[in-house]
Amino acid sequence: MARIPQETIDRIHDTADILDVVSRHVDLKKRGRNFFGLCPFHNEKTPSFSVAPDKGIYHCFGCGNGGNAVNFIMEFEKISFVEAIQELGDQFGVPVEFTGSDDSKEFFTHLYEIHQLAADLYHETLFSNRGEEAKKYLLDRGLSEESLKLFKVGLAPAGSSHLWNAVKVKNYSQEVLEKSGLLGFSNNDIYDRFRSRIMFPIWNASGKIIAFGGRVFGTDDPAKYMNSPETPLYRKSEIFYGLNLTRDAIRKNECAIMVEGYTDLIQLFQAGIKNVVAVSGTAFTEKHVQQIRRFSSKVYLAYDGDSAGIKAALRAGYVLLKGGVDPHVIEIPDGMDPDDWIQKDGGAEFKSIGIEKASGLLRFHLKTAGFKDLSSSERSNVIKEILSEAAGIPDPIIRQGFIKTLAQVSGVEENQMVHMFSQQLRKKRSQPTSKESTKKPQLFTTVNAKAELGIIKVLAGDHGEAKELIREKLDMNRLENVQLKKLATLLMDKAHVNPAEIIAVFDSAEDREMVSRILMEEDDTTEPLQMAEECLKTISKVSIKEKIRSLRIKIREKEAADEDAIDLMMEVVQLQKGIND
Ligand code: UTP
Ligand code: MN
Repeated sequence: MARIPQETIDRIHDTADILDVVSRHVDLKKRGRNFFGLCPFHNEKTPSFSVAPDKGIYHCFGCGNGGNAVNFIMEFEKISFVEAIQELGDQFGVPVEFTGSDDSKEFFTHLYEIHQLAADLYHETLFSNRGEEAKKYLLDRGLSEESLKLFKVGLAPAGSSHLWNAVKVKNYSQEVLEKSGLLGFSNNDIYDRFRSRIMFPIWNASGKIIAFGGRVFGTDDPAKYMNSPETPLYRKSEIFYGLNLTRDAIRKNECAIMVEGYTDLIQLFQAGIKNVVAVSGTAFTEKHVQQIRRFSSKVYLAYDGDSAGIKAALRAGYVLLKGGVDPHVIEIPDGMDPDDWIQKDGGAEFKSIGIEKASGLLRFHLKTAGFKDLSSSERSNVIKEILSEAAGIPDPIIRQGFIKTLAQVSGVEENQMVHMFSQQLRKKRSQPTSKESTKKPQLFTTVNAKAELGIIKVLAGDHGEAKELIREKLDMNRLENVQLKKLATLLMDKAHVNPAEIIAVFDSAEDREMVSRILMEEDDTTEPLQMAEECLKTISKVSIKEKIRSLRIKIREKEAADEDAIDLMMEVVQLQKGIND
């Protein structure tokens, strides 16, 4: 395995300042020793996301996400450990080199490379003689040359080895070629997957090309669009087309406009409406919501004005609502998509009529269902359908507001609506979904668990005497919680605790959730020595209790065998006394 030497990783932990890293993405305010902001990993209105610069860690008291700077980048950008290390290395000037023979790093580098190479090639082709017709077609559609360059639009010509000829001289491994999704394989033949298509490169959040969308051009292929398949680089359900160029505008405007197509996005962007993203060639998912929520909590859906577009907008709207994003729907005139509409009436009209007059999801739903002209039984059905969506809204405040609005806009009395909703809920509950009931067990609720936690807090702090006491007295085997035990072992032989380094030992997000919380809270231990004593006592009591339990079993056995158990009984009495002291 090729690996990044531990030394390099340590250097990055040392140099990558958590405050620097996080505050690029989260607006932080100082409060006491720590900094607080709105959590980028879940939706919240009051900040529970905290960063401790002196410890090099972050933790969200709301959703539990936590870790060091590397974890933050991995989570925030949805990238691997190696990629995060490389990124931070670049940012903080720590050269990252690999040792050993692993090709996993090379594998990814080559995958990125092949995409970049393909994008360059397609783009050049569009601007060459071969691309004349395609370019004219795009310009005629109202896309400017500047836009074509900014979005690096390209052309995959008709031949089957245009890309392959450029790639084969690079000696990429078979695996890279196969996993790129850019080539096809039959027998011993390798050929271009994309032919006779206008190519839209798709970028990831850190600005690397990871896939393509290809629009048919110059053939009568029935598939109008063909997109890259899922690859190690391209996770469709998480990627928004355009986001790399539009995220700042989305933040600034505090809302995003969501469209279906590549050309819709470019057209809007070109018209100066830059807070736009496109879900390209895949269903809109919860993961998309998570992505967009980092940038804004309000989304305007601008889907096609036909019935399929309306249906898709409703679907996406409810997914957004359930994910805590406020959905609005821009009504595109029938038979058009945003691209057509802008071409016809311009960006100003899109803003003044489309955005300004957009409806909330509910109003849009009722309007497109023709609610006011329906019979009462049809109305009842529509409301039931909407209430069943409402049942999926996890946030009670959003849910309540939603039901209230539903009552208002549908003209049903609020009490009546609440009643219908609870009926709907009951129905839903009687068909349990697998997702429910997976609630995590509450941590540290027992006295013993709390004591174990207390031990950790003392060990994580810097009270020498208290720590020494624990080192002397604690029998490690007494710790029941496996993660706490691991953490305690790590902390035991450290004179100076570096939380960021400690957290790096925990691979699972669940463990990090716990550990980051403990390390974050470590300083509210006011009396470390006293705390250490009490916790040690509680933990030793556990061992006494166990002893008593086993003695009791023995006593019962003896009594069953009619033997004298008086010694054992005395012993129990003594032990009991010790506990009650
Ligand atoms: P549309 O069919 O509305 O195309 O699909 P469009 O974007 O308006 O394209 P033009 O204007 O005819 O050039 C909307 C989006 O849905 C995805 C693409 O991302 C497309 O931009 N799509 C569509 C596919 O992925 N595959 C398809 O076969 C069709
Ligand atoms: Mn279109």
